[in-house]
Amino acid sequence: MPDLPLPGLPPRPVVGVLHPGVMGAAVGSALKRAAGAVVWAAAGRSLVTSKRAEIADLVGVPDLAALAARADVIVSVCPPHAARDVAVQVAAALEGRADRPLYVEANAVSPATVRAIGDLLGPQHVVDGAIIGPPAWEPGRTRLWLSGAAAPAVAELFAGSPFEACVLGAELGPASALKACYALQSKALPALWWAMDAAARGYGVDAALQGELERSGVVVPARPDPAKAWRWVGEMEEAGDALAALGLPDGFSRAAAQVYRAVADDDPTDRANPWNLRG
Ligand SMILES: NC(=O)c1ccc[n+]([C@@H]2O[C@H](COP(=O)([O-])OP(=O)(O)OC[C@H]3O[C@@H](n4cnc5c(N)ncnc54)[C@H](OP(=O)(O)O)[C@@H]3O)[C@@H](O)[C@H]2O)c1
Repeated sequence: MPDLPLPGLPPRPVVGVLHPGVMGAAVGSALKRAAGAVVWAAAGRSLVTSKRAEIADLVGVPDLAALAARADVIVSVCPPHAARDVAVQVAAALEGRADRPLYVEANAVSPATVRAIGDLLGPQHVVDGAIIGPPAWEPGRTRLWLSGAAAPAVAELFAGSPFEACVLGAELGPASALKACYALQSKALPALWWAMDAAARGYGVDAALQGELERSGVVVPARPDPAKAWRWVGEMEEAGDALAALGLPDGFSRAAAQVYRAVADDDPTDRANPWNLRG
């Protein structure tokens, strides 16, 4: 799509959220104060997402076409591996619309991915976003980092909400780069502990290892939630892409992706499986 001049947002913009997952529902709810309406697209989404949207008091529309026809701002908050597909679907749904909404790419993707989405939707109309912290229902714990030409306008929509919006420049990439760096400690490091546990269990030396760790005063951090492991595969691959683009070692992130894939695919009833750390 050729890029168009940066639009001004109407005073009470319609915001579309794709999709109201655990984080998307919190983002949608946070935007209700500034928005005329916060809408979500029901087609293809699970009952769980539908319930979350209902609890967050978001307005359901039948599908992406209906959302794309109404929204002044579209926020993508989906599993990172699906971020490009969602943007492609939005581009198709916007065909024929004279004006163009702002698109906030708020997923844990690489700078290259967000720039590719900028090429697809027009860089002036895309804002790079990265959420650091848990789904925010009260202030104080979660920041939304934003970069891009329209980042200040998007930050304004979150003023006074539980998300602290911070602008990190006018380019596409810095917000995603920050998240990829942060993810080395938040996702790649925990995966190393998980791999250590799995190796010790595989060799039957887990009790002895535990004793050695205690003797050394090592405090093993809590394991991440296994139910979320499937989503972190994509995030770690994207973080690996971010490091590789600088010529830095991407193996930490790729190995973490491999760990999370194994955890996601394990059989929770198989206690002999070394990746089964649930029991
Ligand atoms: N949760 C956190 O603590 C946290 C923290 C920081 C950043 N984030 C970021 O927020 C984003 C979403 O995380 P989340 O915790 O909200 O995940 P989530 O609870 O799993 O929700 C994902 C949402 O996306 C939908 N979805 C699933 N597969 C999809 C696909 N292939 N294409 C399009 N949509 C799909 C889901 O719908 P269905 O119900 O129909 O599957 C659901 O509504 C991620 O990029 C993550 O990095 C999350």
